[in-house]
Amino acid sequence: MPTKPKSPYLPFGDQQTAPWYGKDILSVKQFSRADLEYIFSVAHEMRVMVERIGTFDLLKGKILANLFYEPSTRTFASFMAAMQRLGGAVIPIRYSSVAKGESLPDTVRTLAAYCDVIVIRHPEVGSAALAAQYAGKPVINAGDGVGEHPTQALLDVFTIREELGRLDDLTVTMLGDLKYGRTVHSLARLLTRFKNIKLNYVSPDVLRMPRDVIEEVEEKDLPQKEYTVLDKVLPETDVLYVTRVQRERFENLEEYEKAKDAYVITAKTMEKAKDRMIVMHPLPRVNEIAMEVDKDPRAAYFRQMEYGLYVRMALLAMVLGKA
Ligand code: NCD
Repeated sequence: MPTKPKSPYLPFGDQQTAPWYGKDILSVKQFSRADLEYIFSVAHEMRVMVERIGTFDLLKGKILANLFYEPSTRTFASFMAAMQRLGGAVIPIRYSSVAKGESLPDTVRTLAAYCDVIVIRHPEVGSAALAAQYAGKPVINAGDGVGEHPTQALLDVFTIREELGRLDDLTVTMLGDLKYGRTVHSLARLLTRFKNIKLNYVSPDVLRMPRDVIEEVEEKDLPQKEYTVLDKVLPETDVLYVTRVQRERFENLEEYEKAKDAYVITAKTMEKAKDRMIVMHPLPRVNEIAMEVDKDPRAAYFRQMEYGLYVRMALLAMVLGKA
């Protein structure tokens, strides 16, 4: 009798020779296409496991320090949930001795003494890399200022894969605050791993995609174009990635006031979009997408945040040598 092919990913073993064992996750630049395929297969397995049994003991006995110096709801909660769904424990820290003048290296050295992996969000570019130098335990970047947000970009690409069933041959339109929005910096870089991707950047002039990101994408020969209005590119768009104008990163609040309501996606906007496309948003949303759009089946942003749980479960399992 033919037997069911065995999954290469389950059951999970303890593999200290696994390629990601003990590694830091600091930038999307670390991931090849093959790495992405691997992460997404593990994330998909995690999804199946959570749907079937909820919580399981893959990381039993392991401890995560979740160190957040900036506001966060989804990233903070999903890393905690990811660790707990895998049977591990979490030390959540939102108010550390940095308030007393302690340096980041000292804080990180302290946490490394108590835990097996550190997730950090911090307002300065390069902070996660600095933490990694001192930790001696894997460090995962959960957003370093306007720099990168690699786990968000991974979950964004996983969302596209689960929702549209492909990662090649896509027109991706990024909309809003492309200057300060770190999620789009990571996502544009990560999309260079796929074939036949076209990138459109729609933003007010003062919030354009940074030069360094554009140049990196250019080196990989991806077509990219900048616009100030959405109308022209919406009909060809497969993924509309909407972002919040990042108020906290403006030096001049008058400039924020001018830019904040530059684009609002409404049910009327969606009439011009393809039938088979998705609208994404890293969330939190402020006014960029009207609530009436939530019931449109193409609105993928709430599903997107759920996919984040599975991707973060996969990453924790990988760096702790269990996937
Ligand atoms: C994003 C972030 O923190 O960069 N949020 C998130 O992690 N889902 C986007 C944002 O704050 O606008």
